[in-house]
Amino acid sequence: MNIRVEQPAVEVHDLTVSYQNRPILWGVDLTLPQGALVGIMGPNGAGKSTLLKSMMGLLPLSSGYIHLFGQPLAQVRARVSYVPQRESVDWDFPASVLDVVLMGRYGKLGLFSRPRQSDRDIAHDCIRKVGLENLAHRQIAQLSGGQQQRVFLARALAQKADLYLMDEPFAGVDATTEAAIVDLVRELKQQGKTVVMVHHDLQSASRYFDWLLLLNQRLVASGPTHQVFVPEHLQEAYGGKLTLLAQMGELMKQGNYPAREK
Ligand SMILES: Nc1ncnc2c1ncn2[C@@H]1O[C@H](COP(=O)(O)OP(=O)(O)OP(=O)(O)O)[C@@H](O)[C@H]1O
Ligand SMILES: [Mg+2]
Repeated sequence: MNIRVEQPAVEVHDLTVSYQNRPILWGVDLTLPQGALVGIMGPNGAGKSTLLKSMMGLLPLSSGYIHLFGQPLAQVRARVSYVPQRESVDWDFPASVLDVVLMGRYGKLGLFSRPRQSDRDIAHDCIRKVGLENLAHRQIAQLSGGQQQRVFLARALAQKADLYLMDEPFAGVDATTEAAIVDLVRELKQQGKTVVMVHHDLQSASRYFDWLLLLNQRLVASGPTHQVFVPEHLQEAYGGKLTLLAQMGELMKQGNYPAREK
């Protein structure tokens, strides 16, 4: 009998990543299930962006391996989409919103083939989905920060990937844009896609994510949100930083602090 056990979307084994021989991530082991909304959380400098970049093959690994859908990245690149942290991008590059979103289709095109009408239709559809239809022909340098974030999202959507890796998609966006992004991401999940995003706001974490990964150079915890989002793990990840303690107090006052698993 042919039993098919579903592959995890991401498998990280014994991962160590260093900059100039100084390890930033140490011995990280984790698996992320397909179809989950995964939050990566941890303090500044914890290695969250480093982990996403490692998954995208952008950094050399000092040890370990990363498999996506059971295979090395090279075999599944077309199924993976990456939204970098907004500050890390050159927004003066002369390109329109449509140009950038069409880039999301290039992975599906041959090297020298021009985008087809169907690619343009998909790009326009994705631009509409993020509410930028009136700005499709505007230069990206002339957009606000929140609009730029939406362009990135539209480009990722246009890729029609199975795994989305997003580095702080909510940074610098207003509440309306954040809500719109959350809706889009939930729609992706409905379609069976996996979304992994770096997130900073503890208040919304347990509402947004069904799987949580806490990082502080080492992996503190990875699992279903209700198991991971507990004071012990948060303390370990954030080391009792004042802002965190304040936020935890606020959550407890609101009465929605998650109970510890029995
Ligand atoms: N190219 C680089 N060269 C040297 N050190 C780096 C480089 N990129 C990142 N680092 C260092 O590695 C550590 C982890 O960086 P990383 O960007 O992964 O953190 P992060 O968890 O994403 O933080 P933030 O919440 O501020 O985005 C930091 O101490 C950072 O200074
Ligand atoms: Mg980062």
